[in-house]
Amino acid sequence: MSTETPWPPQSSADFPRLASLPAYVFAQVNAEKMVRIAAGEDIIDLGMGNPDIGTPSHIVDELVAHAGDHKHHRYSASRGIYGLRDAMSEHYARRYGVAIDSESEVVVTIGAKEGIAHLMLAILDSGDTVIVPSPAYPIHSYSVVFAGGRVHGIPLAEGERGMVDGDALLEAVEQACASTWPRPKALILSFPNNPTTLSADPGFMERAVEVCRREQLLLIHDFAYADFSFSDDEPPSLMQVPGAKEIGVEFFSMSKSYGMAGWRVGFCVGNPAMVGALTKIKSYLDYGIFQPIQIAAAHALRAEQECVTEVRDTYRRRAEALVGALNRSGWPVPPPLATMFVWARIPERFVEMGSIEFARFLLREAGVVVSPGVGFGAEGEGHVRFALIADEDRLRGAGERVGRALRQNP
Ligand SMILES: Cc1ncc(COP(=O)(O)O)c(C=O)c1O
Repeated sequence: MSTETPWPPQSSADFPRLASLPAYVFAQVNAEKMVRIAAGEDIIDLGMGNPDIGTPSHIVDELVAHAGDHKHHRYSASRGIYGLRDAMSEHYARRYGVAIDSESEVVVTIGAKEGIAHLMLAILDSGDTVIVPSPAYPIHSYSVVFAGGRVHGIPLAEGERGMVDGDALLEAVEQACASTWPRPKALILSFPNNPTTLSADPGFMERAVEVCRREQLLLIHDFAYADFSFSDDEPPSLMQVPGAKEIGVEFFSMSKSYGMAGWRVGFCVGNPAMVGALTKIKSYLDYGIFQPIQIAAAHALRAEQECVTEVRDTYRRRAEALVGALNRSGWPVPPPLATMFVWARIPERFVEMGSIEFARFLLREAGVVVSPGVGFGAEGEGHVRFALIADEDRLRGAGERVGRALRQNP
């Protein structure tokens, strides 16, 4: 414990590593939401990206079939059982035409979030710099801070409609490498992107690998929304880029694609040294996921994939319902090309308020919870994020309520 830690500590903020985390700006809106729910208000909560679509029954049935067997009640393997690692390898071969070695190039994680956090702990030294586009899914930055590293933020901007401005992003990466000493060690990317919903094309992925090779950066790609493109273009996997495995890894999550957020299953695939580092640190920290869950996850990956298409189509219809209602209400919000979110620029006359106050305004005046954009990094200011975690009628209702609130406060 640092000598600066007050004795005895009064709160978690008294511990220096936690005190260096950025403020958790979602907390304030959350606290107000709870008060209103407790008071009996009908609140439409589109804050957290917590999927409401249940897990398909064939996956639940597989869990149930194995849950009672005593041999599965012991500790499992922290790196994941072979059958699940092999199912992930088959998934990459089938879907992306890429060979992933089930022994050395894949490790099972307790969700992508845990995997990213522990990978950073395994590969960073205190003071190492990691380049993270902003806005970002918070763990991309927090994981670096937890590991004692430094975040170098670069702006994430839209290029052509719905696509990342890849040239600007990679130029910023090169500038960061030229201007930061010691040189940055890693770059974290994530497309389709939460919260901005921006997508990337295969050409961008290739250029990203090229830049990382030249700048000697490790590349970490969070592919949690791999199955969530609403256009005809499949989101590219980092692993499809020749040579990507020499410098990077990709995280895949069962949470969104298979409605399994509560089950906590993810994967890290790619570079054997990085996968090995994560495997090693996990072997000290956990004993693996409950084995029947791993068996059911392997079944999910190997069975008919129609359920994944259904989940994606559900989110697409939901996005249309919400965006349609917001647009009819006079808030011109573009439909997302991907993910399970709508990322909306705050109407001009409310921008000054800032995204936290605007989110509080929507809660108070419309009974709708959204995430303030600034919670995803400074560049997220001026926006709010709607998570599509309610059915179409309720989302339409949310859009109408928001429209009424905007009109009543000209
Ligand atoms: C970009 C991104 N990565 C990772 C996660 C978390 O994935 P998991 O549930 O596998 O930990 C999320 C969840 O919202 C996400 O948006």
